[in-house]
Amino acid sequence: MSAREELKDPFAHLHDEAYASPYDGNPATADTLLAMGGREGVSLNGTWNFTLDLFDEGLRQKWFADEPLSPELWRKPRDYDAGAGQTITVPSCWTTWKPEWKYFEGGAWYTRTIEWLPSPERPRAFLRVGAANYRARVFLNGEFVGSHRGGSTPFCFELTEQLRPGENRLQIQVDNSRHPSHVPMNHIDWFNDGGLYRDVDILQLPPVFIADATLQLKPISDFSALDLEITLSDKVSGTANISIPELDATWSVDIVDGKARATLAASPVLWSPDYPKRYEVTFAYEGDRIVEQIGFREVRIEGTRILLNGKSIYLKGICVHEDDVVVGKVSTEEDVRRRFADARDLGCNFLRLSHYPHHEHVARIADELGFLLWEEIPVYWAIDFDSDSTLADAGNQLRELIRRDRNRASVILWGIGNENADTDARYQFMKSLATIAREEDSSRLVGAACLINREEFRIEDRLAEHLDVIGINEYFGWYEPDFSGLQTLLANSTPEKPVIISETGADAKSDFHGRNDELYTEECQARIYAQQVASIASVNYICGLTPWLLYDFRSERRQTVFNQGFNRKGLIAENKKTRKQAFDVLAKFYHSYERK
Ligand code: GCU
Repeated sequence: MSAREELKDPFAHLHDEAYASPYDGNPATADTLLAMGGREGVSLNGTWNFTLDLFDEGLRQKWFADEPLSPELWRKPRDYDAGAGQTITVPSCWTTWKPEWKYFEGGAWYTRTIEWLPSPERPRAFLRVGAANYRARVFLNGEFVGSHRGGSTPFCFELTEQLRPGENRLQIQVDNSRHPSHVPMNHIDWFNDGGLYRDVDILQLPPVFIADATLQLKPISDFSALDLEITLSDKVSGTANISIPELDATWSVDIVDGKARATLAASPVLWSPDYPKRYEVTFAYEGDRIVEQIGFREVRIEGTRILLNGKSIYLKGICVHEDDVVVGKVSTEEDVRRRFADARDLGCNFLRLSHYPHHEHVARIADELGFLLWEEIPVYWAIDFDSDSTLADAGNQLRELIRRDRNRASVILWGIGNENADTDARYQFMKSLATIAREEDSSRLVGAACLINREEFRIEDRLAEHLDVIGINEYFGWYEPDFSGLQTLLANSTPEKPVIISETGADAKSDFHGRNDELYTEECQARIYAQQVASIASVNYICGLTPWLLYDFRSERRQTVFNQGFNRKGLIAENKKTRKQAFDVLAKFYHSYERK
């Protein structure tokens, strides 16, 4: 360290409360997100050094800049040493890693070395993080790389210039602090897990590569044309080749300034829940390839109907959280397949992945198994609708979600909000989000879980003019015990668009039994489900429902003798095995109901 460095005031960091602002720059956004379809990255999953950092000392004292030295070589004392820290496995949530870390909300540091072997054919290196809740800041070899906001969407950073052949030190600071300006804000009804809880990879790519590639059935067509969009990493011109061997089809398209848009003639067998047909599609540009399994289908609305491939469909759904008592927000493939197996037993063709983007393999597995999905961003309850930076955060999370999943046939609806009070600021904010969703993807529906007009007691939300589908969260029988309110609401309402009952339900403690009017008994939950399905089955503008929800889940705002830190509206207990009586009530309805 230079003598001048030595003279620097060693106590300056104690007086600088703007310490974090240098590390909120160079944001990773949807525009820097790379398509992963079929790409094999170099996995960085596994053991990382780890330490909680309750007072943000790492940013204040620039831990990332400390040369990794063994203690006997230190010439000044340190407050942190990645070599002696604890370790954690990525992906995981630190909140489920150790009991004493369960409620930790703040910054934490992940550190590991990565060996870099330059490759002349694939000289460019990108870090891809599946998700980090809520903010992430990346440092490589002591240099700040960039930051990301949003706890459930992937992000990428190019590392090419900073990586050196041989050993490199990668550090990611993750901060799960809740805040009124965040999306979601600080008041939520699920557990605030923290960590690098999805896969982390390094992608080694050619000098110019395919950054994004989408192929979808052209909407409102006779199902004989596909819309193609390809974006290269750089604004160069050339030719891209697309092939679908099973259709014996190949196309060459011109790329100009790094972009290609084309309509391709093809008549694929259409994807549907009953016949989830997917095709292997290869997008090629020079030496780079992206291989995707894509199902082709069309979804649109007509009056108060939702049409899938031109036919009216009734959405027999259920809501699910990403929540597990053992691994928190980590969604293993086994957990996802169990979720779909339970939904299949229930008779579902539809799931609402609430209230944030779930793991990207959920939509891939739904494509394979034949489930339709509502995916959403966590614009949840009292978001800071007056804040431009909050809108930018929400808009970016929406774009990241759409660009991540727009090749997934299962996804039919982008949800842009949940139970937000109807104010002018909320109206403008959500209108902007609806515009962003349609800019990104005109082939899917836009929806939101709306509240009802209490004065007139009818389904009415001025946001509906910007939605394709109106979601209604109603809890008659539970939060509003008098079911006559539901009859009144349904009779008073004349919506001109399809309505989905996007939430309804009741808490029940598994194996707690009693009268069917005794709160929290399984019998009470079952009765409420029976009355709900009887009330909505014959309402012609309701084209589906996603009751709240499949499994009990962790929620610290529920501390009754029945809840004990859980929301117990699940049809199955948090062990994801014990089914409650209401499961059979809904299953009976779904397995027997046919929309007239
Ligand atoms: C709301 C909210 C859910 C919440 C549910 C409940 O509808 O959207 O996130 O868990 O109510 O009260 O259980």
